Amino acid sequence: MYVLMISPGYPPEIPYFTRALAWAGARVLGVSDQPESALPDEARHHLAGYLQVQSLQDEDAVVEAVRHWTSPVRVDKVECLWEPGMLLAARLREALGVEGMTVEQTLPFRDKDRMKLVLSAAGVRTPRHARAGVAEECREAARRIGFPLILKPIDGAGSADTYRVDDAAQLEETLPKLSHLPEVNVEEFIEGEEFTFDTVCVGGRVAYHSVTMYRPHPLIARTNEWVSPQIVMLRDVDAEKYAGGCEMGRAVLRALDFQTGFTHMEWFRKPDGEVVFGEIACRPPGARSVDVMNYASDTDLFAGWAEAVVRGQFTQSVERRYNAAIIFKRAQGQGRIYHMKGLQHLLNKYGEHIVLIDLLPLGSPRRDWKQTLLSDGYLIVRHPDLARALEIADAVGTDLQLYAR
Ligand SMILES: Nc1ncnc2c1ncn2[C@@H]1O[C@H](COP(=O)(O)OP(=O)(O)O)[C@@H](O)[C@H]1O
Ligand SMILES: [Mg+2]
Repeated sequence: MYVLMISPGYPPEIPYFTRALAWAGARVLGVSDQPESALPDEARHHLAGYLQVQSLQDEDAVVEAVRHWTSPVRVDKVECLWEPGMLLAARLREALGVEGMTVEQTLPFRDKDRMKLVLSAAGVRTPRHARAGVAEECREAARRIGFPLILKPIDGAGSADTYRVDDAAQLEETLPKLSHLPEVNVEEFIEGEEFTFDTVCVGGRVAYHSVTMYRPHPLIARTNEWVSPQIVMLRDVDAEKYAGGCEMGRAVLRALDFQTGFTHMEWFRKPDGEVVFGEIACRPPGARSVDVMNYASDTDLFAGWAEAVVRGQFTQSVERRYNAAIIFKRAQGQGRIYHMKGLQHLLNKYGEHIVLIDLLPLGSPRRDWKQTLLSDGYLIVRHPDLARALEIADAVGTDLQLYAR
């Protein structure tokens, strides 16, 4: 089987999926704009061929180049796990006559207003919303929806250009910050806890699912540098508290007729228990979340996904043994990291529950925490008991400090 993989080496966890496809028996054809030599080893060593294109944005040119390049073989699948490449993958499927998601099926996953239109028509509770172009349309939408509001891009990621707006004066302050976007989504602000519902599906059936809790909300984490954001993969996914979100997740997948692969949905739970849809993507969650899934269940979701794609089955055993949390760290100060404090203390106290440490080494320049949630590094911790897992995660947040200058 030939699987064409768009962007096989980026973002950082994608090489593990690329390798898993090869291990599942596929001949993997990579397409991206990086030189082949720049691909991480896990990707490069597992490709049967690689085509470097000028730019993945120039979709017409990529479709033509790929059509020509792959003409000697029959491509069976086109996969992409990188958000900006989703529509390109769909276009390639159509151009090469490959089964899987079409452009029409992919659009509601990429356009957040269309997404909510399709889902609310199917009876899913979405925030009240409007697509707005110029400032006057935003004001009009604000009048209709009411404050507080969220303003965000139609196809954003990582909370970029996303603002909470509490009143008309704040709206006027915020509009100029969004003037570089051709249109935005204006949305009812949902007050409540924020969770995910992530799946691997096979032929329309949910073969794996998990629920994670954001601590704090991604928007707060992206606005406040001092925060050490956590993503907590919950062990007791069947608890009453998450039942509404899981049920909504399944309804969303049915409404979008999702068939095979990873999905990543976000949802809110209001203090009164009402569950509200956030957004959905047809790819795995980023920021090392698939590693967190693996640590929570001692399983291999990279392989699980690849098996679903290549063989149309899912045979990983998923025993939910732990709550697993990833904690992202941001250094104090700018420049290079020169000092770290508290790691030994954490290891002495919680060592057996700390399963991964991936911090930038001393001397490294800081990463841009607004551009990547990975920030200056992260730890993964796990514990069978949720309260203990949160205690350890919070200790990593407060007791471990990095300093830059
Ligand atoms: N309607 C809303 N109500 C409350 N918070 C929201 C709403 N929309 C977005 N947010 C906040 O902004 C974050 C980013 O928005 P989201 O729609 O998930 O876009 P992205 O693709 O950038 O993740 C969310 O995780 C949430 O914290
Ligand atoms: Mg989001």
